[in-house]
Amino acid sequence: MKIIIYGSQYGTTKQYAQELSKKTGIKAEEYVNIEDINQYGTIIYIGALYAGSVLGMKKTLNKISNPSNKKIIIATVGLADPTDEENINNIREGIKRQLSEDIYNQASIHFLRGGIDYSQLNLKHKTMMAFVHKRSKRLKEEEKTAEVKAILETYGKNVNFIDFDSLNPIILEIN
Ligand SMILES: Cc1cc2nc3c(=O)[nH]c(=O)nc-3n(C[C@H](O)[C@H](O)[C@H](O)COP(=O)(O)O)c2cc1C
Repeated sequence: MKIIIYGSQYGTTKQYAQELSKKTGIKAEEYVNIEDINQYGTIIYIGALYAGSVLGMKKTLNKISNPSNKKIIIATVGLADPTDEENINNIREGIKRQLSEDIYNQASIHFLRGGIDYSQLNLKHKTMMAFVHKRSKRLKEEEKTAEVKAILETYGKNVNFIDFDSLNPIILEIN
């Protein structure tokens, strides 16, 4: 049995999960609703990035008891450029820290780009972004990572980088 599981706070990741569900016929469920992950043979986890962590992934995927028998696909959704090598490496390192070694080794990882609407952020997230933005502004050009650039370019705005075509490699891998 196959399942798409998503972790989304403001909906961009949920949109990717629902589109993938539509294109593959595989059911999409929010991570909080997953009771027994071990019943699935193919697990596609799509999670939003928050300060380098993939929302809901750690508590969901670490419950897999026999990863070598499963196909595990992880897709992250973030604001920073998902084609930037340094960004990709940072995301991979973050995932490695959040998962047990055998689950990490079994997973293939994809990188998608989401969006942000500052008018919708909760107070905690607004405060975090204000702090990071202030710090980012002080950096020299050569010190600016893809993450910093994304924050500087989008701060305070409503931006949407969702690209459903970027799901195609994931669809190929599922089939
Ligand atoms: C507090 C906060 C921290 C974030 N941290 C990251 C990050 O580490 N890397 C990244 O690429 N995007 C980061 N983002 C951007 C989100 O990943 C992006 O908005 C994503 O589309 C959110 O998905 P959602 O709408 O499903 O919640 C952050 C956003 C907020 C508000």
